[in-house]
Amino acid sequence: MWDLEKKNPSQLLTFPPKGSKEKSGLGAVPLALLLPSKSNFKLLGLKKFLIIILCAIVSLCFAQNIFAKTCQECHPPSKVAPNARKWHAPFIEGKCEACHGGAANTFQTDVIKGIKWFQSGSLLGGKAYIVLSPKVEQFDLVFRTQNPWKQEILSTLEVPSFSEITPPEIVKVWFLGLEKGPWIEAKVLVQTTTPCKVSVSCDGATGSTEENYYSYQVISIPHVEEGNTYNCVVEAEDFNGVQTPPQNFTFTAQGAFENNLSKLNPPAQNVTVKLFRSNLDELVLEIASDGKISWKLGGIARSNIAKKSSSKPADHPHMNPLSWSSIDACYSCHKRSMFTVSHPVNVALRPFMANDELPLFRGVITCATCHNPHGSAYPYDLRKYGPGLCKTCHKDK
Ligand code: HEC
Ligand code: HEC
Ligand code: HEC
Ligand code: HEC
Ligand code: HEC
Repeated sequence: MWDLEKKNPSQLLTFPPKGSKEKSGLGAVPLALLLPSKSNFKLLGLKKFLIIILCAIVSLCFAQNIFAKTCQECHPPSKVAPNARKWHAPFIEGKCEACHGGAANTFQTDVIKGIKWFQSGSLLGGKAYIVLSPKVEQFDLVFRTQNPWKQEILSTLEVPSFSEITPPEIVKVWFLGLEKGPWIEAKVLVQTTTPCKVSVSCDGATGSTEENYYSYQVISIPHVEEGNTYNCVVEAEDFNGVQTPPQNFTFTAQGAFENNLSKLNPPAQNVTVKLFRSNLDELVLEIASDGKISWKLGGIARSNIAKKSSSKPADHPHMNPLSWSSIDACYSCHKRSMFTVSHPVNVALRPFMANDELPLFRGVITCATCHNPHGSAYPYDLRKYGPGLCKTCHKDK
């Protein structure tokens, strides 16, 4: 059996903060230069210079090792893998960063199955607050846009409350043209500093937005007469019920509305999404985008890992999300083609698969759902062994 305390302390690596890949690489490259080699001896001046640089780097590294605690000092194996009889190789070798750090945090889980879609919409750009139905709170949420492709999984637990307090203002109002149907509708674009509900009333004809809040939106004003000039009052109200001063706006009802908003607003490059809770305890989805997007929102079984509340110290080393550590990290050492068995990962549970025993990560099955990445009491580092493992979810197998 392994005994961590007796291992060479250099194996109990300190984890360099961000960009650890480059840092640990630095140790290796200059060392190679120290070894006698013909070309190195010829370039003596350069070599001395490099040695000085190397000494500086080495002393920096030592300083880190002496003053910073190692991962294992704060997370002893007895706590991280309490029931292990055998440990997974990279864990016992102290290669915590192989799974927890290193790689740039660009990974996005692609949930491929098991999503229950319940809402969709589009955004011209700017910010929107979408008020969600209370039903969605039993799920973790999947937010997805096609162009640009983006998928975010949002936990509905521990949602922060709304904090913005800047009073809203109307930035700009444009008349876009007329749309002819059973009646004639004027299209007006209103931009506000923060997401608002907007109403426009024009000499008897009125239009307004629905229950969601946008910072950039087209208002339809039905029943206008072609050729008439309209004097309108535009009013906007933000999420806290704070109103903008009314703004006057005049337009002459002529010219066709061409639905060429994509020219006005090209497809988005950047989209961010968050959840917050309103003062009325409603769950609200905040979407911010620098261009036009279509989005949809779905639900997946809630991740039981997310329920653990973590109180990491503020200076804790940078960690990759566990959803990365529990799939992508594994593939960095274990090649897909080498598995004898492979179970689908990045799938959410089917609705009838109740499972409270095995951890999901942001709602989906990962390698670490079945394997304990640190070590376990069972063969193959499994969390459960035998048919019981499969039956946790597949009641029929
Ligand atoms: C100074 C002590 C300290 C050091 C050093 C430290 N941690 Fe932590 N870490 C904590 C505490 C405290 C928590 C929060 C409580 C918990 O989950 O145990 C935490 C939480 C975590 C979590 C929980 C998951 C998460 O993202 O919230 C992971 C994983 C983790 N640490 C890994 C590491 C690794 C890997 C290292 C070394 C690179 C490390 N820690 C170094 C104290 C430390
Ligand atoms: C093979 C990949 C891998 C390696 C290597 C690894 N971890 Fe983890 N670690 C994970 C995954 C995946 C999770 C989340 C699963 C879990 O909690 O069981 C996790 C969870 C944790 C947690 C939170 C667990 C909890 O119960 O709160 C800590 C702390 C942690 N790791 C510390 C370490 C330390 C310290 C090392 C190095 C000695 C290390 N890990 C090495 C993949 C790894
Ligand atoms: C840094 C490289 C590395 C990473 C990352 C890594 N592994 Fe491993 N894993 C190994 C090595 C080395 C072995 C031992 C291989 C052997 O003995 O043939 C191993 C063995 C295993 C085994 C077989 C254990 C046994 O008892 O036979 C399983 C299962 C496994 N890894 C799962 C995972 C999972 C799941 C992840 C991601 C959470 C992961 N590994 C990430 C290096 C890695
Ligand atoms: C649904 C549960 C489950 C999931 C998810 C799962 N495994 Fe396994 N894995 C097993 C079982 C069971 C075995 C033992 C197979 C056997 O008895 O031959 C195993 C064996 C292994 C082995 C050692 C034997 C081999 O086939 O090489 C490795 C390595 C491994 N898994 C890695 C992974 C990685 C990496 C992932 C994520 C991509 C993953 N597993 C996801 C259940 C799972
Ligand atoms: C954590 C829950 C969970 C566990 C444990 C689990 N499965 Fe699954 N399994 C699923 C889900 C979810 C799917 C995907 C269902 C779908 O297609 O939507 C699935 C799909 C499958 C499939 C269909 C594969 C495919 O390509 O569509 C097979 C076969 C399977 N599982 C076998 C197993 C076996 C064998 C075990 C035990 C080693 C096991 N499962 C353990 C949840 C689980």
